[in-house]
This record gives sequence, structure tokens and C-alpha cells, in this order.
Amino acid sequence: MKRFLKGALLVVAVIAVCGFGAFLYFIPPFFITPPEEFGKAMAGAAPGVTDIADPAERAIATHGRYIVMTAGCIGCHATNGPQGPDLTKYLSGGAVKFQTAHGTFVSRNLTPDKDTGLARRTDDEVKRVLRSGTFTDGHVAPGTVMPWPVFSNWTEEDRHAVVVYLRHLKPIRHQIPEPVPGNAITVRGAVEQNYAGKDYGIKAR
Ligand code: HEC
Repeated sequence: MKRFLKGALLVVAVIAVCGFGAFLYFIPPFFITPPEEFGKAMAGAAPGVTDIADPAERAIATHGRYIVMTAGCIGCHATNGPQGPDLTKYLSGGAVKFQTAHGTFVSRNLTPDKDTGLARRTDDEVKRVLRSGTFTDGHVAPGTVMPWPVFSNWTEEDRHAVVVYLRHLKPIRHQIPEPVPGNAITVRGAVEQNYAGKDYGIKAR
């Protein structure tokens, strides 16, 4: 009996050691994987600009692509698929929905689709959102929802480059619900907090 127990214990020990080894083996090698590997799929989904014939425009679009890929646009303006972002619908929006006291906001479609995307906006209208969060209909997106207070520090060249790149994306039809205003009383303090200390003349409600 003792012998049998000893044998069983040995088997269990061997299984445990092998199991632990397998566990270690299958953990993704965070420390030895180059950081760029983690974002590779997203980076690969960003349409390239090599097909732009004019070298000057291509250079501007390259800069815009770099900003779009490094400034966090992708995370919020992605489109959800069954398993994470749907990379075939690059930047067509809808990945995040913010329910705040100021209203409900869904990340919008940044592809140049004529009915649901940025083809409906002029370059200046897009730049205005990036500069001051102010939309064509006059509403201002809170800086905590669309981080324009960060983007407003860009140069005009940067903003222009982003617009040139966004215009170059494949148009994807993806209807995003319009923002629904909230009932928050927009006191001055809230304006300061939400609009990065800038007074855009928003009336208290
Ligand atoms: C934290 C999430 C978040 C990030 C990061 C973000 N956005 Fe947004 N963006 C939003 C949301 C939410 C809206 C919709 C706001 C509204 O409807 O008032 C929006 C709206 C916009 C609009 C207006 C679209 C329209 O229909 O007029 C543009 C343009 C835009 N974002 C561009 C960008 C760009 C370019 C970047 C990266 C540099 C970026 N956004 C990063 C969340 C984000």
C-alpha cells in the first residue's frame, strides 16, 4: 500500500512539474517580445500612403498617419468585432460610448464615407474639432470624451496632416448615433474641468 502511495505521489509530482513547465512555456513572452509586436496588427491595418502619387502630399499623409497611429485615435475610433477591434473597418468608429453628466457620446466614423463619415465635413470643420472640440452643429465635446485639449497643442501643420491622412482612408459605411445631451448644470467649474480651463462661452444651463 505504502509503495502504491509513493508511486502515486511520484506520478502526481511529475504531472505537476510538467504542467507548471507547460504553463510557463505558453505564457506570452512579454519580456522578450519587442514592444512593436504587440501593436503590429493595428499598425498593419492602417492603410499605407504609398499609392499617393504626389510626393509632397504623400509626405504630409505619412506624417498624418504617424500622428493617427501614435495619438490614441485608433483605440477610441476603432470598430468592435466579435473578438476585439474589427481591423477591416479601420477607424470607422463606435468602439467607445461615454455616458457622462454632459451627455452620451459615441466615437465617430473618421473614414471618408459620404453618408456616415467625414466626407460630410469640410477640412476646416474637422480641424475645428481637433482644435477646440466644437462641432458643426455647435456642440462642444467634453475634453474627457474626445481628448481635443491634448490635440489643440498641435501645430496647424500637424492638424492638416491628420486631415490629409483621414481623407485617404477607405470609406466605410458605419452609422454612429448622434450625441444625446445630458442634464448636467454646466456651471463654470464644470466648464473649466471639462474644457481644459478654456472658456468657450458655453452658457450655463
Ligand atoms: C478617448 C477616446 C477618443 C480618442 C483617443 C480620440 N477620439 Fe475623436 N472622438 C471621440 C468621441 C467620443 C467623439 C464624438 C464626440 C461627440 O459626438 O461630441 C469623437 C469625435 C471626433 C471627430 C468628429 C467627427 C465628426 O463626425 O465630425 C473627429 C474628427 C475626431 N474625433 C478625430 C480624432 C482623432 C484624429 C483622434 C486622434 C488624434 C481622436 N479623435 C482621438 C473619442 C476619441
